[in-house]
Amino acid sequence: MSDYETILTSVDQGVATITLDRPKALNALNMQVLTDVTDAAAAFDADDEVKAIIITGSGKAFAAGADIKEMSDLDFATAFKADWFAGWTRLTDVRKPVITAVNGFALGGGCELAMMGDILIASTKAKFGQPEINLGVLPGMGGSQRLTRAIGKAKSMDLCLTGRMMDAEEAERSGLVARIVEPEELLATANEIAQTIASKSRIASAMVKEAVNTAFETTLEQGLRYERRLFHSSLATNDQTEGMTAFVEKRDANFTDS
Ligand code: HXC
Repeated sequence: MSDYETILTSVDQGVATITLDRPKALNALNMQVLTDVTDAAAAFDADDEVKAIIITGSGKAFAAGADIKEMSDLDFATAFKADWFAGWTRLTDVRKPVITAVNGFALGGGCELAMMGDILIASTKAKFGQPEINLGVLPGMGGSQRLTRAIGKAKSMDLCLTGRMMDAEEAERSGLVARIVEPEELLATANEIAQTIASKSRIASAMVKEAVNTAFETTLEQGLRYERRLFHSSLATNDQTEGMTAFVEKRDANFTDS
């Protein structure tokens, strides 16, 4: 069931899945994909039934990048005026946990989209790269920034300057990928992670997401203070009372804050 042109969507037991679905173009990210993914993610973020979101790709790619055919005639004035690619910020504004499950090529904008999630898991067939240099341009959806924060300057420069691909093992070793699994287990593992998150306090997971992301935006001192303030706020929730009472009573917690 999907109201979208370029993606498939489904919801199962509180977990929403968005599947990029332009397999003939290796799920290249054209403007319609941007609209569809960000609309769907915003709708799921607002849907009380949904507690976590998975983004994956159909076929042999997660996404092979921004759509080169769409961009080949793009000129500076048009791109600058429209602030091309800025629309993806709507995805990083999502407050629920987002798992990106990379099944194959995650190149250019595809790697950048994978990095917009909160937990990146990869199949053994995944390949990551920022090959924009081969097209005479550079990353434009966060590659030079998020990749550098994730794997450090040495590897990021290596990938962005040579355009080479990195396999799943190297990506995990470098800190880009949280877990690697066999291709046939990718979606089940993503679902398992999402279900685990969905069983926990919704408000606490939103606070965790905000706190970890703040680490990329502030000094350590500011970040630590922000974390403490969020922790103090968590003491005002029903879920904190329930979580700690359940521990003391040696039973499973039943979190209800939405
Ligand atoms: C549009 C794409 C595409 C892309 C693949 N296709 N990647 N179309 N944009 N990014 C299309 C091909 O044209 C082809 O269509 C079909 O998908 C299958 O691709 P093949 O090349 O035949 O497959 P294969 O030989 O398996 O090679 C896979 C690949 C290669 C290694 C991933 O497709 C590739 O190098 N793609 C481009 C990767 C890339 O440069 N990405 C970065 C894009 S720039 P037809 O119709 O011929 O069957 C970017 C950010 C730009 O993301 C930001 C700065 C402005």
